[in-house]
Amino acid sequence: MPVIRALPDQLINQIAAGEVVERPAAAVKELVENALDAGAKKIFVTLRDGGLSEIIVSDDGVGMTADDLPRAVARHATSKLPHDDLVHIHSFGFRGEALASLASVSRVSLISRHDDAEQAYQLNVHGGEVGRIQPAARAKGTRVEVRDLFYNAPARQKFMKTPRAEGDAVREQLQRLALAWPHVHFQLTEEGRKAVELIPGREAYSQRLAEVMGHDFMANKTDVHCEQGAMRLRGSISVPSFQAHSTRHQFLYVNNRPVRDKLLMAVLRAAYADLLPQGKHPYAVLFLDLPPDDVDVNVHPTKAEVRLRDAAAVRALMIEGLRSALHTVSHTTGDNLTQHAVQSLRARHAASAMPTVLRDYMPQTMAFEGAAPRVRSHDPLAGGDDQHDAAQSEVRENISQHFPLGAAVAQLHNRYIISQTAEGFVMVDQHAAHERIVYEQLKQHMLEGHVARQMLLLPAIVEVGEQTANALLEHAEVFGKLGLVMDSFGFGSLVVREVPALLQHADIPALVRQLADELHHDHAGEALRERLDHLCATMACHGSVRSGRALNVAEMNALLRQIETTPNTGACNHGRPTHITLSLNDLDKLFER
Ligand SMILES: Nc1ncnc2c1ncn2[C@@H]1O[C@H](COP(=O)(O)OP(=O)(O)O)[C@@H](O)[C@H]1O
Ligand SMILES: [Mg+2]
Repeated sequence: MPVIRALPDQLINQIAAGEVVERPAAAVKELVENALDAGAKKIFVTLRDGGLSEIIVSDDGVGMTADDLPRAVARHATSKLPHDDLVHIHSFGFRGEALASLASVSRVSLISRHDDAEQAYQLNVHGGEVGRIQPAARAKGTRVEVRDLFYNAPARQKFMKTPRAEGDAVREQLQRLALAWPHVHFQLTEEGRKAVELIPGREAYSQRLAEVMGHDFMANKTDVHCEQGAMRLRGSISVPSFQAHSTRHQFLYVNNRPVRDKLLMAVLRAAYADLLPQGKHPYAVLFLDLPPDDVDVNVHPTKAEVRLRDAAAVRALMIEGLRSALHTVSHTTGDNLTQHAVQSLRARHAASAMPTVLRDYMPQTMAFEGAAPRVRSHDPLAGGDDQHDAAQSEVRENISQHFPLGAAVAQLHNRYIISQTAEGFVMVDQHAAHERIVYEQLKQHMLEGHVARQMLLLPAIVEVGEQTANALLEHAEVFGKLGLVMDSFGFGSLVVREVPALLQHADIPALVRQLADELHHDHAGEALRERLDHLCATMACHGSVRSGRALNVAEMNALLRQIETTPNTGACNHGRPTHITLSLNDLDKLFER
């Protein structure tokens, strides 16, 4: 019968090492955080083999005394909890585990000079064996060298990726920290080459943001700023049309500490729920500031997750802040789409023998305007005879000067609307735009509790089968709220008597069938609100102008005005852009003027 025994320290440290410093990026994070805790203004990191054979972190912080050195590598020894207070933690560290763990699974050498000391000292620890303190040469701060990570833990070694992948992870980790510390100079050298150099500038934060996130992000971001009592959210997020393929570009901080907290990431996802297509993610740099009492950082060995005292309040604050930031840009589709359009037009131009691509476009534009059906309404643009042409042009100029989406000039292939704006022109995908408008209106009406209904002159009878009919009828009340009133018609059929006024031209049987499909889908975990949004989206898709329908100028202008005044119209319900803007400047570029 084996007896219970206390594990030797070296083994305890090795076990902890598996969690705290599971890979080079985690080791770098711990070492850089130590340097930041020591008040460093310059932190230089060097890697060999992605950190697997060597990691060196040197800083110009306050340093350690000779007596500190052995304590620094002892387990649960820290200088950071002077009052044993786990609530008001102002440093990154406090668990006193990182150096002890690292020293147990690698060859560590500490060289440090305390600000008040005459000289520097060095201490080597190899696989947990602590050496003797020796004088060393160093002008200021601390240098920690970590060699042969996991050399004595072959099981761990198997989990390491290629040096390149480990190096990538380190770089990302460093950038994550650098965003929160714009006044600190960071440098990363990989295999003898400088890979990252972030020097604090005069506009430290915005400069750092641009350097880490890239200039495309800067051109396609919207700023977040929101407060509620002592809670605050600030930062920047991408406009819906600027999308990433993973969540890698989401940098979240709680009280300036980088976290990858599931709850916070879920809130971010929810804020973009109906703005992004499946599988696409926003870019985000978000700083959440909370009173220390409201958050517990001591729930995770690497402190990547936090526990919030009032998660609901934080969620509400974040949704409010993110949504209103998105709202301010919700009519626009982002600069990257314009760039994309210019590039692809250019590419096509280069490939074809045509002298100018736009020759393809402009004559069509003119022709279609003439061909558009005349309207009976009082639309000043709809004019008819030559006499009115001059006046008509003048009105168009006027409209295009005063409305962001300008004046409609043509419809292309019954699918796209071209409108002239003060600065250039806009191409609108009529179906995508209208779908979003109907969706937003339905949601709004639903929230206000009065979806306008329209009685059908001829009730629609839809045969869906016994089971589906029952499933739909079970939700009759919800559909009623959405303006869709239906009853059993017996034998697996339903009769639809009223529909939302917005959907009066929709193909009702097709809509009912798709709603039935939606119900079949497993939406477990979706809040009622999200589920209703889903149903609204399905209904909107059926209720909106299909591509392939000819619109007259008045109808096109009406649509443009609706896009301008409806929230979130930059993207359709599936996250595709609804319109693309090209300025005269962009056109000039195309013509190489
Ligand atoms: N770069 C550094 N500069 C100054 N002191 C350091 C540095 N790195 C570590 N230390 C000292 O070593 C102690 C132990 O570090 P660590 O094992 O990371 O635990 P923690 O950071 O949780 O305290 C720290 O509390 C600090 O006093
Ligand atoms: Mg530490």
